[in-house]
Order: sequence, then structure tokens, then C-alpha cells
Amino acid sequence: MTNTEIALAPWRSPLARALHRNRSLIYARYLQLATVRSDGSPAIRTVVFRGFRDRTNQLCIITDRRSEKIPQLQAHPRAEACWYFPNSREQFRIAGSITLATAESGDAADQAERSRLWQNLSDPARLQWAWPEPGATRSNDPTAFTPPPPDPIAPPASFVVLWLNPDWVDWLELRGNPQTRTRFDRTAADWQTLDLNP
Ligand SMILES: Cc1cc2nc3c(=O)[nH]c(=O)nc-3n(C[C@H](O)[C@H](O)[C@H](O)COP(=O)(O)O)c2cc1C
Repeated sequence: MTNTEIALAPWRSPLARALHRNRSLIYARYLQLATVRSDGSPAIRTVVFRGFRDRTNQLCIITDRRSEKIPQLQAHPRAEACWYFPNSREQFRIAGSITLATAESGDAADQAERSRLWQNLSDPARLQWAWPEPGATRSNDPTAFTPPPPDPIAPPASFVVLWLNPDWVDWLELRGNPQTRTRFDRTAADWQTLDLNP
């Protein structure tokens, strides 16, 4: 699959429906993203879903270059997202590979997208990328968390975009008895859909 893909995967309409049915819940746009540490152990954290990359099935996430997920993904690009929608009582598990757009990596289209996402952030949100290194011992500097506002146009080196390119999706709907579970697998040509026991 490339960035120019147009066909929407079959799991996109149930996911769009879930986003719509849960639109009143701000936290319905939060998902858990698991990566792999260098010792093979899982690493998981909450991130915000920033939409799909245009004309692809890739989920967009923004993050800090200095966070631990970056070296994890550079060494091992596999990741899995787990996303629960409370109003409609559905879970999507989405597994695939992640590509990154850092200041140094990614083509012109990736960089244009990185700039667009940076420019879409609010001023307070952008400030976080100018804070001291995430995960380091808390800074004693009283001014560390009130840095000068970063350039609202050009993203700083700390601003990184991740795209999760799914190769399978496992959709579980709790509503109904028995529950409904559907598996979507990307094949060379298209997607295969299979009903599973819940
Ligand atoms: C509701 C919520 C939303 C978050 N959104 C993001 C996000 O979009 N991107 C991000 O990098 N971290 C986000 N975080 C922080 C991460 O969960 C995590 O603490 C941070 O990314 C460091 O993770 P790492 O050390 O495993 O890289 C969010 C946390 C919460 C609680």
C-alpha cells in the first residue's frame, strides 16, 4: 500500500460509524498504542487519534521526537492500537507498521503533512514540544515549562508524525448476544473479511 491508495478498507465504515456514535465523548478519540522495547517487552501508552492520512487507511498520531516510542519504532516498526468506544461498546484492535516523519526523515509530502499538523495545533498545545525532554528527571528550572512560543509555521525538530498502516483489524461489538467479532486482513490485492466467534 502506498500513500496514494484511494480504496477505503472495509473496516473504515464501522470505525467511522463508531467515531460518529461516540462523538460526544472527547476521550473516544484516545486510543492505546503498543510498541516493542529493545528487550522484547511491550510498551503501551495513550495517544490522540488525529485522523486518517488523505487517501490512505493510515491512522495519524503526533508525538515528541524525544519520547521512548521513537527509538522503539525505529528499531521495530510494528505496533498495535486498542481503541474502545464506550457509547457503542465496540473495540477495535488495529495492528500494522508505523512510518515516521521526523525533521530528517520522510519525503516532501510527509513534510508537508507534518507542517500542516503542526499548524493545526493550538498555541498552548504547541508549547509542549518546547518543554524539557519527556521522561527525564523533572526540571528544577522555574521557566522550563513556560518557554517562548515556538514558531507556529515551521515544526520544531521535536515534532514527529506517526502513521499506523494497518494490516489487520479485529472489531468486537459487545452489543448483542452472542457478541459480534469481525476480522479484516490485508491481502496483496485487497482486504479479506471474516466473521469470528466472539
Ligand atoms: C489522554 C492522553 C492523550 C495523550 N496523547 C498523546 C499523543 O497524542 N501523543 C503522545 O506522544 N503522547 C500522548 N500522551 C502521553 C502518552 O500517553 C505518553 O505518556 C507519552 O507519549 C510518553 O510515552 P513513551 O515514553 O512511551 O514514548 C497522551 C496521554 C494521555 C493520558
